[in-house]
Amino acid sequence: MNLTTLAANAPKAELHLHIEGSFEPELMFDMAKRNNVKLPFASVEEIRAAYDFSNLQEFLDIYYQGMSVLLFEQDFYDLTWEYLERAAADNVIHTEIFFDPQGHTIRGVKFADVVGGISRALSDAKQKLGISSKLIMCFLRHLPEEDALATWDEAQEFLSLIDGVGLDSSEVGHPPSKFKKVFALAKDAGLHLVAHAGEEGPPDYVWQALDELQVQRIDHGNRALEDQKLVEKLAESDMCLTVCPLSNLKLCVVGDITEHPIRKMLQSGLLAMINSDDPSYFGGYVNANYTAVIEALNLSREEVETLLRNSFIGSFMSKSEKAVALAKLDQYLSQT
Ligand code: ADE
Ligand code: ZN
Repeated sequence: MNLTTLAANAPKAELHLHIEGSFEPELMFDMAKRNNVKLPFASVEEIRAAYDFSNLQEFLDIYYQGMSVLLFEQDFYDLTWEYLERAAADNVIHTEIFFDPQGHTIRGVKFADVVGGISRALSDAKQKLGISSKLIMCFLRHLPEEDALATWDEAQEFLSLIDGVGLDSSEVGHPPSKFKKVFALAKDAGLHLVAHAGEEGPPDYVWQALDELQVQRIDHGNRALEDQKLVEKLAESDMCLTVCPLSNLKLCVVGDITEHPIRKMLQSGLLAMINSDDPSYFGGYVNANYTAVIEALNLSREEVETLLRNSFIGSFMSKSEKAVALAKLDQYLSQT
């Protein structure tokens, strides 16, 4: 069996997925119609043609525009369910998904409908697809910390549905230190903490995420490789990096997929793993991301196995859940 098939059929976890970034143009169009929202595109083909980005901000502008058709609880359910069906087809057995409540509440959508629709789909996925999950609420870093604090307040009555907090949106100019207070509150409440850092921002932002926000995972982390001391710290502390190859390609974080640093990360002892980030915008779900790096870098079987194992090791599953998932993966690998 070739390595792309081996990876595709393997049980795996996805730990870096923005649910609003899984919004396929077909569903977006249908929803725009049923909700009477005008999209600035005449067809699904026109939407897809607009997905040509030269940096993170160009993508984000279209991403926020796309999410404007999401209004009701059922919309968030449908969006999440469609992702979960695709994840199941890629043999994802555990997923930790991000959502951006501020992208919705700012338009007058009820926080309860956002979190309600997403978590109802996650709960159905456990029953019907056998996928376990965690839900991570992200703060939009281009907005002031006061807005994040207000969102934190709004989230209080839904904390039983939320497992962690994260930090996303425009990175450069919005360092992690800006969100120290709200992350301290989330830590006190016992939530998991993650942050996007080192996607476009400098290694110093990764240091800040570790030292000032006390995160348990770094989302992306590509630019950490520019700082040897930082690489050593990340490796020694088994800090997971949730890496997104096709995202890096589409947002020009790498010039070509053959230049992707995933092998270098593994060789440096980093706990890196593979994710899709915003799959409907970047050209593929998690298996397409495995395929892209396996083919471009000619990854070895050992490297592919490490990436698959890291997907569970870096997750927020309990110790016993991790042991079960890793045993399932090992059994699959031993027979393949
Ligand atoms: N929001 C959705 N995708 C993102 C990414 N790749 N980086 C930062 N913010 C995001
Ligand atoms: Zn992301």
